[in-house]
Amino acid sequence: MSIYSGYAAVYDASGQLGFSLRMIGYLEELLERFPPPGKRWLDLACGTGTVGVSLARRGYQVTGIDGSEQMLAEARRKAEAAGVEAIWMQHDMREFTLPERCNVATCLYDSLNYMLTSDDLSAVFGQVARALTRGGLFFFDMNTAFALETFWGGQAYFDDQGDLAVAFNTRYSPSRRQTTVTVTWFERDRATGLYSKSSERHTEQAYPPEHVSTLLVDAGFEVLAMYDCFSLRPPHEETSRILWVAKLAKGRAHG
Ligand SMILES: C[S@@+](CC[C@H](N)C(=O)[O-])C[C@H]1O[C@@H](n2cnc3c(N)ncnc32)[C@H](O)[C@@H]1O
Repeated sequence: MSIYSGYAAVYDASGQLGFSLRMIGYLEELLERFPPPGKRWLDLACGTGTVGVSLARRGYQVTGIDGSEQMLAEARRKAEAAGVEAIWMQHDMREFTLPERCNVATCLYDSLNYMLTSDDLSAVFGQVARALTRGGLFFFDMNTAFALETFWGGQAYFDDQGDLAVAFNTRYSPSRRQTTVTVTWFERDRATGLYSKSSERHTEQAYPPEHVSTLLVDAGFEVLAMYDCFSLRPPHEETSRILWVAKLAKGRAHG
């Protein structure tokens, strides 16, 4: 079974929602520094739609793309509950087309670390360049090798919330700069009191930041800023997550 299928139903409750909520506040700060040239917003790897729904509430015309139909189903439910309109589409982020170009794109919560080869990462950047208007902005974050090695390199985390208990087991390969996270969750059926066990294995790839910037430039972007994520300070040796701000260079919008 593909990743983010079964996990979609417990994703928010398993502790992931907090990141998106924090990101919404941070994005607001970034948008003050880097005002987008329009209201059409593409959220790639939108997941359960927390950020997309919040942007739609603020008046952006949001298109959310994700590879997982189950994550998108959660996003649709959330949008409906919030009474906002957004377009949710299932696509691989390496290969998608939009009916209309957007003015801003985001790809958040280390979704780009799921690109396991430089060619895949480069394919996403090319797609985003094609999806943006000239001068369009691209905000995304990625886990660093430091983060994968230090926090996801042999550690186990366990969170018992009663009806839902989630365990994360991590393993890092320094030679490949790659981490595998096995997420296992136990959900209690309220009628029977019995727990069902499910599991998914996620792999994330870290890239040297300068390599990411080179791929962006190759795709037609200008790198406007790199931050130690959730701050406006530059990244340092022990930065665990880098937030990039890139702008599609004038004259470089693809066909
Ligand atoms: C950690 S979640 C982040 C979701 C969301 N951005 C957030 O902030 O909560 C990673 C997301 O990336 C999506 N994803 C991973 N690989 C993908 C691909 N090749 N194409 C599209 N979506 C992908 C997963 O389905 C999942 O929803």
